[in-house]
Order: sequence, then structure tokens, then C-alpha cells
Amino acid sequence: MSDNRRDFLKKGALLSLSGLASALIGKDKINNIEEITNKIDRMPAFTLPKLPYAYEALEPYIDKQTMEVHYTKHHAAYVNKLNETESTNIDYMSSDEVKCTHIDKYWSAVIRNNLGGHYNHSLFWTLLKPNAKGETNLPVGTLNEAIKKNFNSFDDFKKQFSEASTKIFGSGWCWLILKSDGKLKIVTTANQDNPLMKLDGERGKPVLALDIWEHAYYLKYQNKRADYISNWWNIVNWQKADELFSTK
Ligand SMILES: [Fe+2]
Repeated sequence: MSDNRRDFLKKGALLSLSGLASALIGKDKINNIEEITNKIDRMPAFTLPKLPYAYEALEPYIDKQTMEVHYTKHHAAYVNKLNETESTNIDYMSSDEVKCTHIDKYWSAVIRNNLGGHYNHSLFWTLLKPNAKGETNLPVGTLNEAIKKNFNSFDDFKKQFSEASTKIFGSGWCWLILKSDGKLKIVTTANQDNPLMKLDGERGKPVLALDIWEHAYYLKYQNKRADYISNWWNIVNWQKADELFSTK
């Protein structure tokens, strides 16, 4: 954790407890405050978000083992690496979205890869939802209207997004982004980059995200990436995507 963040949190904790401490001043209470500040000192700057469903909840489209390994090994590794990598330039109090947006200010390959990995996966989990019964799963709300307006129809959008995902060479992500001009666009990024980062390529706010790393599908689908993509449409959380699209 950076010194700035640590000091900020310490001061906040001390201020909030100062009234109580002054009223009940005594050795035991002071020890309690020291104990709390010591705990804050040990808080990691980045944490693995709780998965919003069980590992097996996305079956039969994404299997339990893939989800468990993906979340507890891959995503956790990005978080752990970030916490091991101190950077005096990172504003630890800002959101991970803002940190990605300003990646050019604290440029390093290790931060770029692991901050991207952490942000991308945190978003990816929320954009999936269980659909064990295989019910029809279509876009909702204002995003539904915007997809029709930008891509002619949902079927045309689905075809273009699936093709872009299938064509990614090596590891990367496929995104639907909302650009600053209000238009939707399908883009892909390599490795753990994302469209928030100031890199070459189109930038915008992520509305949909699809992980195309082999670790996301290989245990179940092996080399059949197209089948993974085809099945992913059944578990897209369109409510969450609409929320991302509609929230400025
Ligand atoms: Fe992944």
C-alpha cells in the first residue's frame, strides 16, 4: 500500500475514533486504536471481488472447474501481483476504472498487465449470469434500442461480435464500447489491455466484455473457441450491460 493511502486511512480511522477515545481515554482504548491502525496497515490495496454466483452456476455453458481455476488462480494472481508491486504514482483511492483510464501516468508492463487483468475480470464476472434452463437471452432497455440503431439488428451485432472474438490472435478480449460520440463499437484488445487505457486503438466505456484467453474455456472446449463464444451468449447479463450503457 502506498504511504499516501496508508496515511489517509490512518487519519480517517483516528479522527472517527477521537471522540470516543477522548471520552473514554485509557490504556485499553488507546491500545484498541493502535490495533485498528495496525490492521489498516495490513490491508491490501487491491482485493479479489466476491464472485456473484457459485462456480457451477454458469453450467452447462461454463463448467465449474474452469470458473474455479479462472477466479481463484488467474484473477487472484493479478490481484496478488498488483499488491506486490508498489507504485508511488498510482492514486490508490481512485476506482480501478479511473486507474485504467490513467494508465499512462504510471506506465509499467507489470502494472499494465495486472491492473488490466484485475479490472477486466472484475467486470467480466458481473456481465455473466446463470441460465441453466437455456432461456432466450436478449438485450434489454436502452442498450437494446442502441444495438439495433448501431448494428441494424441484434442478429447482425451478434454475428459481428462473434466474428471479432473468433479472430483474436492469441490471448485478448472482445468488447462492446460506448464511445465519446455516443456510438457503440465492437473492439478487441490484446493480452489484458482494455478500451479505457490510453493505448493505440479505439477507446470507450466497456459495455460488454468477453475473455478470449484459453484459460477461460480450454478445459471444456479445448480448441473450439467458436463453441465457447456461441454458448457465452446464453449467459450474458444484459441487465448489467444496460446499466453500464445507461450510467454516465
Ligand atoms: Fe481470464
